[in-house]
Amino acid sequence: MCGIFGYVNYLVERKRIDIVHTLLDGLQRLEYRGYDSAGLAIDGDKPNEVLLFKEVGKVAALRQLYDSSNTDGDKTFVSHVGIAHTRWATHGEPSPLNAHPHTSGPLNEFVVVHNGIITNYREIKSLLESKGFKFETETDTECIAKLAKYVYDLNKHRDLDFTELAKLVLVELQGSYGLLLKSIYYPHEIIATRKGSPLLIGVKTEKKLKVDFVDVEFPDFPDISVEPASNFNDSLLVPGAPDLRRSQSRAFVSEDGIPMQSEFFLASDPSAVVEHTKKVLYLEDDDIAHIYDGELHIHRMRREEGLPTFRSIQTLEMELNEIMKGNFDHFMQKEIFEQPESIVNTMRGRVDFEKKTVNLGGLKAYLNTIRRCRRIIMIACGTSYHSCMATRAIFEELTEIPIAVELASDFLDRRSPVFRDDVCIFVSQSGETADTMLALQYCTERGALTVGIVNCVGSSISRQTNCGVHINAGPEIGVASTKAYTSQYVALVMVALSLSDDRISKRARREAIIDGLSKISAQIQEALLLNDSIHMMAETDLVNQKSLLILGRGYQHATAMEGALKIKEISYMHSEGVLAGELKHGVIALVDENLPIIFLATHDSLFPKVMSAVEQVIARAGNPIIICNKGESALSKLHKTYRTLQVPATIDCLQGLLNVVPLQLMAYWLAVRKGFDVDFPRNLAKAVTVE
Ligand code: UD1
Ligand code: BG6
Repeated sequence: MCGIFGYVNYLVERKRIDIVHTLLDGLQRLEYRGYDSAGLAIDGDKPNEVLLFKEVGKVAALRQLYDSSNTDGDKTFVSHVGIAHTRWATHGEPSPLNAHPHTSGPLNEFVVVHNGIITNYREIKSLLESKGFKFETETDTECIAKLAKYVYDLNKHRDLDFTELAKLVLVELQGSYGLLLKSIYYPHEIIATRKGSPLLIGVKTEKKLKVDFVDVEFPDFPDISVEPASNFNDSLLVPGAPDLRRSQSRAFVSEDGIPMQSEFFLASDPSAVVEHTKKVLYLEDDDIAHIYDGELHIHRMRREEGLPTFRSIQTLEMELNEIMKGNFDHFMQKEIFEQPESIVNTMRGRVDFEKKTVNLGGLKAYLNTIRRCRRIIMIACGTSYHSCMATRAIFEELTEIPIAVELASDFLDRRSPVFRDDVCIFVSQSGETADTMLALQYCTERGALTVGIVNCVGSSISRQTNCGVHINAGPEIGVASTKAYTSQYVALVMVALSLSDDRISKRARREAIIDGLSKISAQIQEALLLNDSIHMMAETDLVNQKSLLILGRGYQHATAMEGALKIKEISYMHSEGVLAGELKHGVIALVDENLPIIFLATHDSLFPKVMSAVEQVIARAGNPIIICNKGESALSKLHKTYRTLQVPATIDCLQGLLNVVPLQLMAYWLAVRKGFDVDFPRNLAKAVTVE
């Protein structure tokens, strides 16, 4: 998750400071997609000079860096190309060096901003290194800029057009990308292209466009094919490629023959563009957009049967907030449906599913200290506390270290004793929650080792803990936490796996968990298929109820509490997560034919005990809703009489990741049905920075 923004002005006089502000404002709109570092590239004072500004942190930090740079903001540009990027680190830590734009070398002949992952960057890098290129960053993106320079030099005598050059570069790239390319060799021109990563172009012209589409241009000489070079030898040299520039883009033809003033806003999502123009063109995968002389051209490598040969310039009617949500009605819904992906991002580069190993860069140096500790105290609030509850048992089992799980406020109220040989794990999505922060300070003062499990890179908890793990779930906007919960859960399981990887006796169990993790993303996807039936259940059965109970035991106690919290938070319905073992000690008095009682009855060693609680409820004329595994034979009789929600089965300690999905959906649909503000529920805030 990163954000791309580009701005092109043609025959529209703009001061440098205005160009920079346009770029920074565009980035700020995209900040919700990632904000651990940012950068931009603009033209310098001399011809063929490109200036790069890159800074760690949010876009505001980049703004400060630019403001303090003494660059002449009054210099005007009649035509100019600027590109910018806000990053959420995946390859290489957030640092000015690893921030985009990336460059071909010290002279910045080619600069690039990129979203996505170039999967064969290591191969490209080592080939380019063998040709004398020096790589400076840990990113995959750097290879694109350097490859462009290499291809350019190789074809210098040919006077290649920017599109032709881009084709030769792109054909070598594997993986996914949305990218912008700028070069001193093609002043005032830009290449924008995508494959699997969104990119669109906002168009603002002085006069009305002649037509509201752009023709797709194909190579005139199909015999000059662009195929990947097997090992970067001279096949990257194009023998006599045609000059494609003779075409004119019909939309941009001016009637009086005078070139038309125009501005283009290129972005990875429309939220950054709509304040400038509502006319946008969405690029398709493999489109190569080339903007020069105030015209936008779309090129493709080859003709494909049945695909449209033009791209419409659409008029966006949506409001900003709607646009950022994509096809979803609310951020919470988007985040629930993002979980198959966010969970993979939590594990990316850390879990090796073949070798069955886990490697957490942020903990490596501390593992031995943690293994020797007297006890582990997990401290958090709200949903983050539930992720600790959900993983406590597997921590205890794998590490054989006593584990305490504490609500931060209660922990502080009790002035709980903490010692130098304790390890305190602080779990927080925002990394800013005041109660958790105060508990962190309290434990730091007492000399305990502090570990953070945090989503927001650069947050207070992330910075003030001794070490930790970023869960990399991507920014979460809905106040009710969903994808952060599942990612915290996975991150904590990964910590437990790492801590126990020196124990032979736990090997089989560890490997079974890693196998479970390898399938979990697809299984969450499957659980999300319950959406329609849960929507219906919420509309018809549940919406008029005053209260709802969720019962689970063992691993599922935490799921019950988290599900109940979700329902309270956004649908304002009273709901309680109850340990199923406690049913008979009081809660059973509430059972009647009306009160909805949801059972978490997926298959693990406690299943018979949960089923006995189900029977007790049925015996008192209760009407349970049972979340169970697909095809659970012990429930075959009950299926006919009682409502069930069937989720895929995984290993016991991961089952909560799947069971929580129907409860998240239930909370969501209840709130929607009641007409409540799902993303901004009353009285709640995303980060509670007061005690
Ligand atoms: C890090 C980089 C990632 C890069 C990877 C491989 C960051 C944010 N991540 O990921 O971009 O791809 O190396 O080179 O730089 N930490 C805390 N407290 C917390 C969370 C983290 O102190 O609450 C510390 C960790 O101990 C570590 C650093 O922050 O020193 C980064 O943590 P994390 O992002 O989890 O590390 P990697 O997964 O190794
Ligand atoms: C707030 C939020 O109370 O803080 C909850 O409304 C959240 O949704 C809790 O779970 C903890 O937040 P964090 O950022 O520390 O995980």
